[in-house]
This record gives sequence, C-alpha cells and structure tokens, in this order.
Amino acid sequence: MKTIWITGGSSGIGFAVAKKFLINNWKVIISSSNKEKLKLAEKKLKKINKNIIGIKCDITKSIEVKKAINFIEKKIAPIDLALLNAAAYSPNKSQEFDIKNYELLIDVNLKGTLYCIEHLLKCMKNRNNHIAVVASPVGYRGMPTAGAYGMTKAAQINLTESLFFDFKKYNIKISVINPGFIDTESTKKNSFKMPFLKSSNYAADKIYNGLTKKYTFEIYFPFILLTVLKILRILPLKIYSFIWKKLGNF
Ligand SMILES: NC(=O)c1ccc[n+]([C@@H]2O[C@H](COP(=O)([O-])OP(=O)(O)OC[C@H]3O[C@@H](n4cnc5c(N)ncnc54)[C@H](OP(=O)(O)O)[C@@H]3O)[C@@H](O)[C@H]2O)c1
Repeated sequence: MKTIWITGGSSGIGFAVAKKFLINNWKVIISSSNKEKLKLAEKKLKKINKNIIGIKCDITKSIEVKKAINFIEKKIAPIDLALLNAAAYSPNKSQEFDIKNYELLIDVNLKGTLYCIEHLLKCMKNRNNHIAVVASPVGYRGMPTAGAYGMTKAAQINLTESLFFDFKKYNIKISVINPGFIDTESTKKNSFKMPFLKSSNYAADKIYNGLTKKYTFEIYFPFILLTVLKILRILPLKIYSFIWKKLGNF
C-alpha cells in the first residue's frame, strides 16, 4: 500500500484529493493548521476508508513540518508521494499595495512550501518518491490585483521547474499542478464571475490521474481555460495589456 501526505487536506482541493486516494486504497495523511477543522475532515474521511490520519501541521513553522514528517516516516509509513497543496488566498480587493497581504502569502505559500521540501528531501533521497506542488495559472503572468497571490504562485512554478532538474540526482520526481477555477472556500472570496468553474471532485480526478498514471511534470486543467492562459502568457505586453483594458478597464 502506498502513502500520500497532503498538506491543506482539511478542505477544498486537498480534501477531495484525499477522498480520491482513499477510494483507491492508498494510506492517506492529511494535515492543516486548524486542529478542529482537521479532526472534522478526518472523521468524514474515515467513513470512506480507515487508512486516514490527520496530523496538525502549520507549514509556516519549520519545526512543526519537521516533526510531522518525522512522525509519519517513523510511526506510520515512508511517504511515497507528497502533495504540497496548503495555501492562503486573500485576493487584493483593489490595486492597492497591501504589504501585510504580501507577507502572509509569502509565509504560507512560499516559505511553507520550502519548509516541506527541505524536510522531505532529508528522507526521500534515492527512494524514487514524488513531490507535487499545487500552484496556479495565476502565476503564469502578472494580472491586475493579483500581485501578492500571483507572485507566490509564479515562484512555485519557477521553483518546481528548477527542482525538476536538481532533484533528478536524488531520484525524486517533481510535478506542478495548475488548476483553473475550482469551487472551494478560497474561491468563495472572489467577487467576479469565474469562467469554467469546476468542482473540487473534478480537480481531484485530474490530480489523481496526473499523479498515478504516466509521470508528467505539469498537470493542468480544465484544458480550454488553461490553453487560453498559456497563450496569454506568451503574448507581447502591448496586446496583453490591451486585453486587460477591454476586460476590466485596468
Ligand atoms: N480553488 C481554486 O480555484 C484554485 C485554483 C488554482 C490553484 N489553487 C490552489 O489549490 C490549493 C488548495 O486551494 P483550495 O482552493 O482548496 O483552498 P482551501 O479550500 O482554502 O484550502 C486551503 C487548505 O490549506 C490549509 N492551510 C492554510 N494555511 C495553512 C498553514 N499555514 N499550514 C497548513 N495548512 C494551511 C487550510 O487548512 P487550515 O485552515 O486548517 O490550515 C486548507 O486545508 C492552493 O494551493 C491554491 O493556491 C486553487
């Protein structure tokens, strides 16, 4: 039986992915920073399959990440696949520069992901394991009002691309997951209409297939939205800014 550790597994995409892996007979460890929320999620998932364990782990605290990974490795099972999915999302309501928002998102999305990778590396070397980071296509290119969140997601995409090369020598596979709009607690904060909005179960199916079938570096969905975003990524700035002007008068 294989083991997956999912950060941010108490809600949204992480919870749905946990469900999917449990149905497919993996041992699943979920973690998140809020103990009560985590216990509730664990209780719900136990109804599907008993092979679920919730471990409180605030990824902004390196020591908590280290303890959680050591506990899993020594007391539960070696981690075959780590899904680094936990993130904070607080969209800027305007184009104001809010340093507190930048700091929060850097701490959770960037430093948190780095702490997980640092401690995973110590045990995963030469075991043919897999680390997947849930980023976002918002990181493909700068977008109006998305500076803080987009910056952290761009960094995750860039980081995973570097580690794709650097971790080959350790026999660790790296993937990045770029979902379009998925209906979760996070996206409920959005006040705009989200095109091609999909459910978290849809995202879980795509992530499960992407991570368990043939190895791919980038797992992205839904196809049409992401293809459009990939084209926008390479357009000259003049055309790109013209499109934003038409869309939202930015
Ligand atoms: N939803 C979308 O449309 C969408 C699109 C593209 C990418 N994504 C990415 O998908 C991932 C999951 O997002 P989601 O929409 O499912 O969000 P969500 O429902 O808000 O879930 C976020 C998860 O992260 C956990 N978390 C937050 N801060 C944490 C911390 N400091 N330490 C540990 N866990 C923490 C939360 O649990 P606690 O509160 O208990 O800590 C929760 O389990 C994120 O990386 C997000 O950027 C989402």
